[in-house]
Amino acid sequence: MTLQNKYLELLKNILLNEIYLENEVRFLYIFAMLSINQKVDGSLVREIGKRLPDLVERTKQARQEGRPWWNLNVSDPSSSPPSTKMLSLRNLCEFSHTMAGRKRLDNITYCLDIIRNNNVPGDLIETGVWRGGSSILMRGYLSIYEMNDRKVWVADSFEGLPVPSLPQDAGYDFSASKMPILAVSLEEVQENFSRYNLLDDQVHFLKGWFSDTLSKAPIEQLALLRLDGDLYESTMDSLNALYHKVTTGGFIIVDDYGDFEPCRRAVTEFRETHGIIDPIEKIDWAGAYWRKSQ
Ligand SMILES: C[S@@+](CC[C@H](N)C(=O)[O-])C[C@H]1O[C@@H](n2cnc3c(N)ncnc32)[C@H](O)[C@@H]1O
Repeated sequence: MTLQNKYLELLKNILLNEIYLENEVRFLYIFAMLSINQKVDGSLVREIGKRLPDLVERTKQARQEGRPWWNLNVSDPSSSPPSTKMLSLRNLCEFSHTMAGRKRLDNITYCLDIIRNNNVPGDLIETGVWRGGSSILMRGYLSIYEMNDRKVWVADSFEGLPVPSLPQDAGYDFSASKMPILAVSLEEVQENFSRYNLLDDQVHFLKGWFSDTLSKAPIEQLALLRLDGDLYESTMDSLNALYHKVTTGGFIIVDDYGDFEPCRRAVTEFRETHGIIDPIEKIDWAGAYWRKSQ
């Protein structure tokens, strides 16, 4: 493994919190016990890997694939009759800097390797960054390969998703009042970049709704366009504003293609309208990408 690959693998490990994954399982266990008024077993917390190996393994797998891992079935022995309840502990236990999962992070560096080896010109952008992890990986890649002439554009409202306003997004309200965990401030994302020593003048933040910021942004050309705004509206706004700036040989990555029907629909409609026939490749159960041939 080259030094560059070692750095990028370590960066992914940390962005995904894989390196301290057992701590997330510890939190899951502690909150589960508290929710059913049971005593927390300190030795189990200490030896979580040995005592709850299945839960640790399940969490590892989910982190690889960027799948939900925070739901737990817990049986409450004190209830009469004894009952089982489903706990959703996402708001308490999600600590990673990206929710994309290992396979989708590997896809980012795969695309960047091709861009670098083939000198595909242009900057990199992510539309929808949450805590910034995937964009931090992009900046880390530029840094380790000393690619000093490209920018990373980091576009987000930094206050969560919009309340759906289009019929195509009906039923998909992930706005801050429903999903506070998705609303991460600009300051927090900048702080995350600086914790990795990657906050500098190659990183440009575009704060606001995509419909307001993206078409006005002083972006000349893009080698990588990564869409992660979940909704039809957010995906379509990003494609309309930026697709024509992607250079030949550049990549379009859609994080939610397999996960959210509104996002997939926006991609399908946009491709049909613009006669795009470059094949869509699957990354995992959710992510997909294509390479622009013309
Ligand atoms: C699923 S999260 C992104 C996850 C992130 N890419 C990662 O690697 O963990 C979706 C993000 O998109 C942002 N977002 C969605 N639609 C938006 C819009 N129309 N304008 C601005 N930000 C938007 C939200 O604020 C949120 O941070």
